[in-house]
Amino acid sequence: MTNDSSTRIVADLQTWIAAAPAGAKLPSTRSLVARYEASPVTVQKALRILTGQGLIESRPGVGTFVRAVRTARPSDYGWQTGALGSPRNRLSSEPATMRAASVDAIALHGGYPDRELLPERLVRAALARAGRSDTALTRSPIAGIPELQAWFAAELASATPTGITAPQASDVIVLPGSQSGLSSIFRALVTGGRPLLIESPSYWGAILAATQAGVRLVPIASGPSGPDPDHVARAFEETGARAFYAQPNYANPTGTQWSATTAQQILDVVRTYGAFLVEDDWAHDFGITTNPTPVAAQDDNGHVVYIRSLTKSVSPALRVAAIIARGPARDRILADRAAASMYVSGILQTAALDIVTHPGWQSHLRGLRHQLLSRRDLLITSLTQHAPSAHLTLIPPGGLNLWLRLPESTDLTAFIRECETHNVLVAPGTEWFPAEPTGPYVRLNYSGPNPGAYPEAARIIGHTLHQIS
Ligand SMILES: Cc1ncc(COP(=O)(O)O)c(C=O)c1O
Repeated sequence: MTNDSSTRIVADLQTWIAAAPAGAKLPSTRSLVARYEASPVTVQKALRILTGQGLIESRPGVGTFVRAVRTARPSDYGWQTGALGSPRNRLSSEPATMRAASVDAIALHGGYPDRELLPERLVRAALARAGRSDTALTRSPIAGIPELQAWFAAELASATPTGITAPQASDVIVLPGSQSGLSSIFRALVTGGRPLLIESPSYWGAILAATQAGVRLVPIASGPSGPDPDHVARAFEETGARAFYAQPNYANPTGTQWSATTAQQILDVVRTYGAFLVEDDWAHDFGITTNPTPVAAQDDNGHVVYIRSLTKSVSPALRVAAIIARGPARDRILADRAAASMYVSGILQTAALDIVTHPGWQSHLRGLRHQLLSRRDLLITSLTQHAPSAHLTLIPPGGLNLWLRLPESTDLTAFIRECETHNVLVAPGTEWFPAEPTGPYVRLNYSGPNPGAYPEAARIIGHTLHQIS
């Protein structure tokens, strides 16, 4: 059986069906086998595809028939305008980073690593094993399977200094990716209408989740060394906020890593104001020239709500992440998780655990570090050579992105469009600002496909900047 022959049969039968009246009987499988000189399996496969397309139906023991075409009436959704009213927040369309790219594009706009950076063999083997395990047929606990909870807790515990109580497995809530965890945290700990401090720029998905939760965003400027702790203190004081969302390690989009001093000072501020630090450790597996140092490892009083994802480092198809939180905050987040999604697929949890506890995982991470280093440096060198007027705000010690400031007068929309006509996709920085953008920025991701094309991409970026300025 080949896909090609069943595709050929499907195409031919579609033409036949289009000309046939509803209820017409298809030739028997045996005569189709003879007509197309194909195997019965191939013919059956073609019939299944046509059934899936709603074009035919089979009546067991009688035959296969052309289905009646339902006439398509124009739908009228006008009534919904009155029922829904205007949206509380302007809903954004598809974020730039999630746009699909054609195969020949140089895609610097995305957020998820290319498959050559993923532990493909580990993922495939783990999914096969998980499919044979009990978790393929059972319901998982709301907070996650205990072994995976224990692994997430142990990871953070390994960074916890003596004298601080390490997190326990029971503090962990497993999630289907960290994005929905952010929504839960904002709903459960901040709640609608209340203020949330957020670094600016910051992850567009956190801005989106907070906005959807009805939370009021209070931007805190963040530079190459992170936010100024005094500004954070002042914002807590002035707004009465009780939470600060931040990425202390390899922030998306800037790549910033807080110094130990900044981390300690911000933790002190958060404690002083009886508040939470929502620490998004999304790039924990993407250290390049430094190692990540979670702020949560310094806290055992429940001030830091820690979120860690495996989605980008293990596989975008294996969406598994976790929140580590303590006290009533953890209970409130868990209640929100139960309401939102009940529990995470046991197969995914079992596979994720299999991968991260496999001896091959650590060697994969070591290899990944080298690959990210050479990709990052190739993109930086190429930009320095071909686009000298673009300013790199920081050589990121980790993460997947460069945050580039374009010359002040750049029309960002025109720049993005012009790059796109030359098949180079970049993400407009506007999406990472919780308030007005402070300049024309773009984010370039160096973990996408085809790093060999970086010099060409930089040449096009440089040429475009020259042309439109
Ligand atoms: C900072 C940050 N947090 C969270 C996420 C969401 O990750 P996940 O795929 O685990 O939902 C992303 C994805 O781009 C991110 O950049």
